[in-house]
Amino acid sequence: MAESEADLIELFNNADQGQVFQFLDELDSDARRALLAQAATIDLAEVAALVETHVRGDHAGGVDLEGLEPAPYIALPEQGGDPDQWAAAWDAGSAAIQAGRVAAFTVAGGQGTRLGYDGPKGTYPVTPVSGKTLFQVFAEKIARSSERFGVTIPWYILTSEINNDATMAAFEAADYFGLPKDSVHFIVQGLVPAVDGEGKILLAEKGKIAMTPDGHGGSLRALVRSGAVDSMRAQGVDIVSYFQVDNPIVQCIDPAFIGFHVLGKSELSSKMVPKAYALEKVGHFCRQDGKALVVEYSDMPESMQEATAEDGGLRFNAGSVAIHVFDRDFIERVGGDGAGTKLPFHRANKKIPHVDASGQTVTPDEPNGIKFEMFVFDALPLAENPVIIEAARGDDFSPVKNAEGVDSPESCKADQLRMFARWLKAAGVAVETDATGLPAQTFEISPRFAADEADFVAQWASLDPKPAILEGLIIGE
Ligand code: UD1
Repeated sequence: MAESEADLIELFNNADQGQVFQFLDELDSDARRALLAQAATIDLAEVAALVETHVRGDHAGGVDLEGLEPAPYIALPEQGGDPDQWAAAWDAGSAAIQAGRVAAFTVAGGQGTRLGYDGPKGTYPVTPVSGKTLFQVFAEKIARSSERFGVTIPWYILTSEINNDATMAAFEAADYFGLPKDSVHFIVQGLVPAVDGEGKILLAEKGKIAMTPDGHGGSLRALVRSGAVDSMRAQGVDIVSYFQVDNPIVQCIDPAFIGFHVLGKSELSSKMVPKAYALEKVGHFCRQDGKALVVEYSDMPESMQEATAEDGGLRFNAGSVAIHVFDRDFIERVGGDGAGTKLPFHRANKKIPHVDASGQTVTPDEPNGIKFEMFVFDALPLAENPVIIEAARGDDFSPVKNAEGVDSPESCKADQLRMFARWLKAAGVAVETDATGLPAQTFEISPRFAADEADFVAQWASLDPKPAILEGLIIGE
């Protein structure tokens, strides 16, 4: 043991990261063991490469904007798309779901700092009447889709070491929201050490290295390393429906989207929505050298974000809502150890509380360190036959990101209400709404009852008796 400890320390010294063990002799034996165990998980070669490229190297250039064009996409029928093509996609997707080929995958490993909420973001209450949490909403949608297509859809949830225990405890306490327990799988994503401006790994405490999750791009390698990809193969699952934990109105299992993916023989398909305004903080679907890619708002100059096309609309109008469908074998290729297909890391300058060389705890006011993250959409240029389809914002995208204002709990509740009112109107029910479509009453449609508008219309038709739309009603419970 002592010898392997010495080996580990020597590896860090050789990598010029010996400061990690600067306070080792001050630690009691438990803390000492914990630090050594944590250090042993670090891929020093990966850290050295990150430091070389993003800290020492000239990382200032950012994203190459040369030859960037808007990416083509399949428009919704109501926006000029071909209704027959959408109907065929719906059929193909339904068949794939029915055949048990589809799993749901939620990325929920982030720290959710902007919302100012302490627990795992999925445990945040979001629905307007009953205050169901994000996790409950997804669980009920997945249960409804399973029921609708006569299968049990497996659900994989990406957590990180920071929130995995609390996430699992929330599922236990809620009895898995009625889902079969063995259909829900938690995957813990990897962590990467944070470094200072010189590329030295920071200590969060004298006996603890400052580590941060490796980004949602790390979800792909987490699916491979955890054995999830193998378990999918064993179950006959080869299509993975990916969405973020922050968006309760997402169609977790969208037959048409899955169908476009299948019919297009796509390795990675994505949904776009037209941007709400030029500087909306979303990624942009683009094309460069014949490949599809997403360029983050922060990497695109404002002049490009605001540029208009000949028809007067925004030139780069296709916003990424972070909803994708992955081919399982593609996940294995990009998330595995093979050469040449890795996702790149991005650098983010952050305020990182740490212990300095003199042993003092420092809580910085300004960014003092660097964290590294992979972005899942960087897989797009690596994919064969990528497909991008248009989604209706009101039926797929209203994230809870900020405590107030845009993308907040309030704006999301209003968007849910507008969606419920639209579904009722589609079913022929008169609902009083204002000019923005917001109903006068606050009510809910249970996600367990209907997964999308078409499903709701069919379910409502068979509901007997039908309830009056009153304040506080929950339809389908
Ligand atoms: C993200 C996208 C943006 C997209 C927008 C749509 C990035 C960099 N940008 O922005 O292109 O238009 O969503 O809402 O992602 N997560 C993990 N592990 C991590 C980090 C994040 O699981 O290590 C998960 C989070 O739990 C969350 C999701 O990834 O579900 C998004 O993370 P977040 O950092 O909030 O992305 P945004 O900046 O909001």
